[in-house]
Amino acid sequence: MRQKVLITSALPYANGPLHFGHIAGAYLPGDCYARFQRLIGHDVLYICGSDEHGVAITLSADLAGKTPKEHVDHFHAINQALFEKLSFSFDYYGRTTWKGHIATTQSFFHALNQKGLIVAKTEMHLYSEVEKKFLADRYVVGTCPKCGFDGARGDECQQCAASYEATDLQNPRSKLSGAPLVKKPSEHLYLRFDLFKEALKKWIEKKQWKENVVRFAMSYIDDLKMRAITRDSDWGIPVPGYPGKVFYVWFDAPIGYVSITQEWAEKNGHKDKWKDYWLSPDTKLVHFIGKDNIPFHAVFFPAMLMGQDLPYKLPDEIPANEFFMLEGRQFSKSDGWTIDLEEFFTKYTPDQARYAIAANAPETADAEFSWKDFQLRCNSELLGKFGNFVNRVLVFAKQHCGGRVPQRDSLHDVDLRFEQEIARLLGEAQEAYSTFHLRKATQILMELAQTGNVYFDTKKPWALAKREETRGELNTTISLCIQCIKALALIASPIIPTTAQKIWTLLGQKTDLAHQNWKEVARREIQAGEVLPPPEILFRKVEDAEIEEQMVKLGKAGVLQREPIVKPEYPLEAQTPLEPVKGEILFDQFDKIDLRVALVVEAQRVAKSKKLLKLLVDIGHEKRTIVSGIALSYSPEQLIGKKVVIVANLAPATIMGIESRGMILAGHDGSLLELPHIQSIRQGSVIS
Ligand code: MF3
Ligand code: ZN
Repeated sequence: MRQKVLITSALPYANGPLHFGHIAGAYLPGDCYARFQRLIGHDVLYICGSDEHGVAITLSADLAGKTPKEHVDHFHAINQALFEKLSFSFDYYGRTTWKGHIATTQSFFHALNQKGLIVAKTEMHLYSEVEKKFLADRYVVGTCPKCGFDGARGDECQQCAASYEATDLQNPRSKLSGAPLVKKPSEHLYLRFDLFKEALKKWIEKKQWKENVVRFAMSYIDDLKMRAITRDSDWGIPVPGYPGKVFYVWFDAPIGYVSITQEWAEKNGHKDKWKDYWLSPDTKLVHFIGKDNIPFHAVFFPAMLMGQDLPYKLPDEIPANEFFMLEGRQFSKSDGWTIDLEEFFTKYTPDQARYAIAANAPETADAEFSWKDFQLRCNSELLGKFGNFVNRVLVFAKQHCGGRVPQRDSLHDVDLRFEQEIARLLGEAQEAYSTFHLRKATQILMELAQTGNVYFDTKKPWALAKREETRGELNTTISLCIQCIKALALIASPIIPTTAQKIWTLLGQKTDLAHQNWKEVARREIQAGEVLPPPEILFRKVEDAEIEEQMVKLGKAGVLQREPIVKPEYPLEAQTPLEPVKGEILFDQFDKIDLRVALVVEAQRVAKSKKLLKLLVDIGHEKRTIVSGIALSYSPEQLIGKKVVIVANLAPATIMGIESRGMILAGHDGSLLELPHIQSIRQGSVIS
């Protein structure tokens, strides 16, 4: 029997549009894995869908003057469309508002309840006499119990970052109506997660997961407590026997993986087929998630599965990825620190995006999308190495081999080595994909393309074409290059499926590459005599001007950035005394100093220095490098896209081996630095 592989990607909240930050973590790695597993010949089911309940959603809907249903319908459609645009291969993309999800969630609850794993507890909650209901933390504002900031959120203070219960707030009021809130007892149901401690520990100990996943999960298990699984709300899955209460969104969402599989089975006309995946011990269950979802996938949901009567499969792999940012800073739609995807796809292809994201997948550390890197990946890798090899071989075959795959002649050392290299890299790619090393897979792809280019250059088929005696060698060369292109298409297929299919077609193949078998394709040669269709260009060059345009957009967005919260690092009483005012100077002396507005285009830490940042700033007429000692107060991410004030005519100085041309002005208060605020006017403007 074929190995069953059930793959899930975290169900995204239908509470806003997804961006590349999400795509890089839980989604693209999942899709590439699913595509690879299908190629290997496994019986793959890839499930995803919208997570549509929870207080964050009702709150956003309320604020937008929409019903929660209208709100989630809107974002479900938007996110589903993005996945389609990006060629995702979900077998089913469902949603947790599907009616069948109610019964499945409730059946999970019943099984846990019957085992005595659910207990009721009464605690104080905040109640609005005006709205006549209990308000969950996100609906509450008040005065922070720690720092006294008024307007603090119900779960944490945005001023001092303290975390607390909403009932700890002073002067709590409704975020929506401003009405004062009172404490009232309310009963909620708690799931005895604490009773699963030992079972969970034993189960995880045997897993060979990424170290951060195991460490994070174990630290949670250590002080696992019972947790409330109900909320006072009317948006969500109703709790049987508890009118006015719904399940906490993190109770019903992972059950969504099961119900979405059930919906898939129903839609495909065999209602019970979901059981083949979820209830079979032979299934391999793989959850692709971002690292913030680790506790729910490695601890809470497995406990819920363990507490069922049906023999549910527990996850076998939880490849959790780190965060993926934009130019060093978290994507933020409200701050304009984002990529307009609609515009993006008018200029670039889904495969360009997929490749650039895969090449930078946040596997072991936070990673980022940067426009410069995107340009480089598109131009020097996809086009320069990969596309170029495919193109030059196919154009050559058209001109010199009558547009057919030539019959190879005898093989010499160099040819045999090339063949071996193709086989070796195919094996490595297979290993990389099987072990969730997507970045590695992109590197192998480029290595193979480069190997092809080197072989082609070494064999110089254009010289071989000049003499009839070397015809055989030419044929061997082109024949092997064609086999290399085939291997490239195969390795590329999970990551850039559209391009891979195009190449497959350019090799005269009429089938769907995604439905072929990896081993078969790897082994079987493209037949001699096969007619090769006219070659086509695979990738377009990304011009400097396009990238600059994008950076300018982000630079403008940087204007809207909130000022970084600069926290004093020392107690107030230890403040250093203010410096006396310096001796008088004449205007002429001051006027010699040329102060300018400069836009920070690039920023990075200077190696071996805690204080120094190396910045590339744009002052309108030119860009220049400035080394600045502000690293203790500002991170490179905070500075990119921001405008600063510089002394533009200071004599250059060499700092840590870097020539610095100018100086950045900042206020100094002891060790604390703060930049002056000029953000709206153009870089290059004079400050006087
Ligand atoms: N909606 C959650 C998020 O975006 C993920 C839910 S994953 C599931 O962070 F397992 F609960 F479905
Ligand atoms: Zn506070």
